[in-house]
Amino acid sequence: MRSQDLQSLVLALVLLAPVAYLAAGEETSPSTRDTEIGLSKTSVFDVPSPDPVPATGGDPGDQPVLPRFFDGSPPVIPHGIADFLPITRQEHLCLDCHEPDEGAERVEGEPTPIPHSHLTDLRADPETVGDQVVGARYFCVTCHVPKGAVSPLVKNRFER
Ligand code: HEC
Ligand code: HEC
Repeated sequence: MRSQDLQSLVLALVLLAPVAYLAAGEETSPSTRDTEIGLSKTSVFDVPSPDPVPATGGDPGDQPVLPRFFDGSPPVIPHGIADFLPITRQEHLCLDCHEPDEGAERVEGEPTPIPHSHLTDLRADPETVGDQVVGARYFCVTCHVPKGAVSPLVKNRFER
């Protein structure tokens, strides 16, 4: 074999090696498809439009309050809220009904009074209970959600 032929052969082998390696790798370790990565099982390039969550609830007081998921969890809203949104600086209908408790007992069928934790700036001044809702609690629906007729995408095994 001429030395030039030998050089070409070595060069060809060197160039083909990564191709052979990749081809072998594909068989042994299958890659994850983009449709398998997320919960929605569509391509990451799609813009899916899921069905809107059907509203449940009805008027306040129609439905009994719901069980708490765990101690200290924000209670789920047992009534519809479409008529009370959006919450703005000028208008906050939730607060019209859910006034802070003045030491009064909770009455079944009446709006549950907002607790003292919602009138307290837990970070800056945790000892003082003010007379109005603090900023961090102003947008109730950040934490309190109405019940929705949806089946969970992932089973929740949280326990406390
Ligand atoms: C028209 C009066 C009214 C308005 C407005 C209203 N609620 Fe209610 N809310 C009620 C009543 C009545 C109950 C049920 C109390 C019962 O059945 O014992 C309730 C229950 C709740 C509960 C459950 C409390 C518990 O003890 O488990 C939450 C949370 C709640 N509302 C949040 C909200 C939020 C957030 C808004 C605004 C988006 C809002 N509510 C607007 C009257 C109202
Ligand atoms: C940052 C999250 C958060 C926001 C925002 C928030 N809450 Fe709560 N809420 C909670 C948690 C957590 C609890 C349960 C623990 C407690 O009582 O502090 C609770 C409890 C409640 C309860 C039940 C009180 C009781 O005596 O059982 C009512 C009623 C309530 N919130 C209404 C509201 C309303 C109305 C707003 C808006 C003005 C609001 N919350 C904003 C987290 C929040």
